[in-house]
Amino acid sequence: MPKLDRYFNIAELRKAAQKNLPASIFHYLDGGADDEWSLRRNTNAFDQWEIIPSALTGITKPTLNTRLFDRDIALPFFLSPTGMSRLFHHDKELAAARAAGKAGTFYSLSSMGSSTIEEVASAVRGPKLFQIYVFRDRALTQSFLERCKSARYDAICLTVDTTVAGNRERDIRTGMTIPPSLALKSLLSFTTKWPWLLGLRHNRDFTLANLSKNIDPKNSGALNIFDYVNQQFDPSISWEDVTWLRDRWEGPLIIKGLLSAEDAKQAQRIGCTGVIVSNHGGRQLDSAAAPIDCISAMRDAVGDSMDLILDGGIRRGSHICKALALGASACSIGRPYLYGLAAGGEPGVNQAIEILASETRRCMQLAGFHSVAALQSSGAVRKAGRG
Ligand SMILES: Cc1cc2nc3c(=O)[nH]c(=O)nc-3n(C[C@H](O)[C@H](O)[C@H](O)COP(=O)(O)O)c2cc1C
Repeated sequence: MPKLDRYFNIAELRKAAQKNLPASIFHYLDGGADDEWSLRRNTNAFDQWEIIPSALTGITKPTLNTRLFDRDIALPFFLSPTGMSRLFHHDKELAAARAAGKAGTFYSLSSMGSSTIEEVASAVRGPKLFQIYVFRDRALTQSFLERCKSARYDAICLTVDTTVAGNRERDIRTGMTIPPSLALKSLLSFTTKWPWLLGLRHNRDFTLANLSKNIDPKNSGALNIFDYVNQQFDPSISWEDVTWLRDRWEGPLIIKGLLSAEDAKQAQRIGCTGVIVSNHGGRQLDSAAAPIDCISAMRDAVGDSMDLILDGGIRRGSHICKALALGASACSIGRPYLYGLAAGGEPGVNQAIEILASETRRCMQLAGFHSVAALQSSGAVRKAGRG
């Protein structure tokens, strides 16, 4: 395997992921919905914001630590929930969770993960949250809460932007299923991906680990993820479900997938601890606004007492700095760490985190901010080109 320090930015890790993964799996990771407008816009929108640095501040070593969901964390970003990490590396979620723990930040386990709630809890002592959907079967949602309580998860995050599966045309084209099936059109791309194929020696389990008992055995062959979402997730979820959850989970409760100031305010009224400002990385509603364009209005609406997380499009430390200055308490990343996972397992995730941490630190130093709090209260970011 090539040395990971050859990959010196997230775009390089993406290329390495593409090299290692069978095509259908890479496109499942990389792609978005419909025309992928929101996917592109999530990153491109950062270009419309600029930083006005403060000169001669005497900063020598900016610190990155902050507080989030009632925990101290070492970085102003964490790992977003992503389903089925086994697709990308045989060490699956455990590799990513260990890397997050080592870096001192949150790992988020998806309810569509290939590792169980308990496996991840015993692999890491670091802060962790569990992401749930409201399933048609409320007893399943309730059982997740009980398991998370026993396994001492710090927070629960409810994703609300997936009432129906997004239209991911790359996956339709490649015939993506879970576990990956060797359709004729994708066979060639599997046979040339030796590192991925060798991973099958270590681990051939591609089940949705937390849901396998609930999947109808009649349909237990290759699973089309869109069909699963459309069958099992409750499309009629409403604020009443958030209240239902609030009444059953005593710890921090976060809603993922809001973009409007009014919705953030409503989440606050119901007693949510935080909001992940997100369009699911452009994988659900195409044309949904980029989170970076929404964050400051949402911050104005909720004031300082609620955690707001910028999720989507982050590929550089300067993106993290812009988000913090515009009102984010912290950021979260999806694809960047999955590219690292596909490029080299746990060391690859370490590399993705280290790239973004060192870019953020350098950006803060060059912009003249010694801490996350100083950047957040600086007003140093404005619309680009105003002069
Ligand atoms: C492969 C993949 C799987 C994902 N699975 C989930 C999921 O199970 N639950 C969820 O809330 N979000 C999921 N997401 C969305 C991420 O949590 C996050 O919102 C998104 O990746 C952020 O955008 P970014 O990839 O540009 O950082 C997934 C994203 C990817 C790329």
